[in-house]
Amino acid sequence: MNRKVTVVGGAGNVGATVARGVAEKQLADVVVIDIADKKAAGVALDILEACPVYGSDARVMGSGDYADSANSDIVVVTSGVPRKPGMSRDDLLNVNYKIMQQVTEQVVKYSPNCIIIPVSNPLDAMAQAVLKLSKFPRERVIGMAGVLDSARMRSFIAKELNVSVENIHAFVLGGHGDTMVPLPRYSTVAGIPITDLLSKEAIDRISARTAKGGLEITELVGTSAWYAPGASVVEMIEAILLDKKKILPCSVYLQGEYGVQNLFVGVPCKLGARGLEQIIQITLTPEEDAAFKKSAASVKELVDVIGV
Ligand code: NAI
Ligand code: 2OP
Repeated sequence: MNRKVTVVGGAGNVGATVARGVAEKQLADVVVIDIADKKAAGVALDILEACPVYGSDARVMGSGDYADSANSDIVVVTSGVPRKPGMSRDDLLNVNYKIMQQVTEQVVKYSPNCIIIPVSNPLDAMAQAVLKLSKFPRERVIGMAGVLDSARMRSFIAKELNVSVENIHAFVLGGHGDTMVPLPRYSTVAGIPITDLLSKEAIDRISARTAKGGLEITELVGTSAWYAPGASVVEMIEAILLDKKKILPCSVYLQGEYGVQNLFVGVPCKLGARGLEQIIQITLTPEEDAAFKKSAASVKELVDVIGV
């Protein structure tokens, strides 16, 4: 295959799910890099052995050596500590920042032209750390969170209305934390805003469940989610590698858009071969704008702690 995707932290839950998804869809060859090098090799081998069943000719390998990742088109960063029950995403700040420092240096060394998709939490602050450490242009560092949060909201709307998830678009903006901003006005079923289809009580319930979607899984499983996060990263990779120009909510470095300066926050983005190709600006109501700014302020608090 003439495309290469590396997943750093790929021996872990989210990373392995991304590696498998990329291989299954035959989007690229896949390199699994992890500090747990033997496990990385094993996870990669297991995925490779699934490829005949998938009908995929993706080459998949794993190691602890970044030289194997050289010249990747996309590097996904899932290395880091996940949440345990009782922990917030923000509790992971300092430990995962140290991991971003180690990982970004190696990624830049071996794949200086890649697009990086940070996933580690707290997502927006870690994405900002990766941008600053890599010195990449903002078009090439795109955090994954909004696709996941929107997918959660879509699944809750589908269940509430007993309709196909395929009919549903949902928009969730802001930081990937408790202050995220589900936008019911822009969430639709076959083009119809959910505000025309659901009661305020149902919408508030769905929005609250979306904002606490990560916590709900963590309390049930004992660690954080991986299937929906992994699938969400694969959707972003597909949009980039196939140059789809797909509009997806992603965490990107805002430079004045939505009235926010020099900060990663989730907004609608066009993804294509060049990475972040456009930030889509929509008009927010005063209430939505206030919620968005509050969410951005909580990201700012975190980036100030680590000084990025
Ligand atoms: P996990 O513990 O299953 O996997 C993490 C992997 O990173 C492990 O295999 C570990 O060996 C590896 N690792 C740790 N330090 C490393 C280093 N310095 N270099 C290379 N590899 C290293 O965790 P899981 O569940 O896969 O979550 C990964 C991260 O993604 C967590 O920070 C989690 O909070 C975050 N996450 C973010 C989501 C989002 O929407 N942005 C959704 C789900 C998880
Ligand atoms: C999630 O939302 C923990 O960020 C992770 O599942």
